[in-house]
Amino acid sequence: MQIEEHYSLRNHNTFGIAVEARFFVSVNSVSELKEALASPIHPKKFILGGGSNMLLTQDVDALVIHVNIRGIETCSEDETTVTVKAMAGENWHEFVLYTLDQGWGGLENLSLIPGNVGTAPIQNIGAYGVELKDRMVSCNAVAVIDGTEREFSVSDCEFGYRNSIFKNRLKGRYVITEVVFRLTKTAHELHTEYGAIREQLATNKVSNIAPKHISEAVIAIRRQKLPDPKELGNSGSFFKNPVISKAAFDRFQRLFPEAPYYNVSDTEVKIPAGWLIEQAGFKGKRFGDAGVHKHQALVLVNHGNATGEQLWTLAENIQAAVKEQFGIEIVPEVNVL
Ligand code: EPU
Repeated sequence: MQIEEHYSLRNHNTFGIAVEARFFVSVNSVSELKEALASPIHPKKFILGGGSNMLLTQDVDALVIHVNIRGIETCSEDETTVTVKAMAGENWHEFVLYTLDQGWGGLENLSLIPGNVGTAPIQNIGAYGVELKDRMVSCNAVAVIDGTEREFSVSDCEFGYRNSIFKNRLKGRYVITEVVFRLTKTAHELHTEYGAIREQLATNKVSNIAPKHISEAVIAIRRQKLPDPKELGNSGSFFKNPVISKAAFDRFQRLFPEAPYYNVSDTEVKIPAGWLIEQAGFKGKRFGDAGVHKHQALVLVNHGNATGEQLWTLAENIQAAVKEQFGIEIVPEVNVL
């Protein structure tokens, strides 16, 4: 375990922001992680996974611990289901492809989401009608304060839309080291209700739908709309889709009858932030190297050398414009640090 000093984080965050860590260490096992957490080199510890859901606006004055613990293991299986464990440092999409290659179903709708397995529960990643919580059994984590290990069941995690206990009450307190999933070997529960998926399956001329086909459709859709962080720095959806009360929605809809929406419950409605941002005139706009993606207004992009502060200024301007035009607050989905 080698601790580096004044280490550039440019290749460790998908926005490609060139801030510096005061100290940096990559850990390959749970015991190395505990050792790093106990290190006296700096009182503050900063945990980094795939760096796909954060906007770094300043240098990180801490020991940055890069969780690079790898491994995938089948825990148990029967005729119809399999329980599989993946360590936190596994790349999420590669893990999804691995499960599909085994013929297992469950994670196909979550294909091509950037980031690592260990950070997926923090924001309960979700796409096309499936969220991580629907497939997770439990996760293991190590306490930052004293290195003790704890298992969290799905209900312990207090999952919500892009939300969990790890973003709230336990923020910064635990490092997730492994996640256990229950997947299907037969009788897969397929989610094809999103129009974009149905259209893509039709384009691909798929009739007998298997999980792999849904994954291929999701990959094609995401490639059309979402930029590849290797080519254009970004962090996926930058904002959450706002959820407003039915009463507020009724007023909104009278003014903007063309707006897309989804009913969340009898009392709440979700409005796509991408639509609001596009209507506010930001889609495809560029301010220096900080910009809004041309195919999906919910995604902020770094065209090269944008700083975290420039991207954050853009985000604040977008929030203010959406608030002024629609009276709706949009909040970041990514962690702004
Ligand atoms: N829209 C626009 N303009 C835009 C973008 C979207 O008008 O620039 C409208 C579309 O017309 C559509 C609606 O907004 O009617 C929804 O768009 P889309 O299907 O692309 O989904 P989204 O709500 O923008 C969410 C997730 C994505 C996830 C997709 C598919 C959030 C914050 N984002 O996006 O997640 O892939 O649904 O399920 O919930 C991510 O979290 O990083 C992410 C990409």
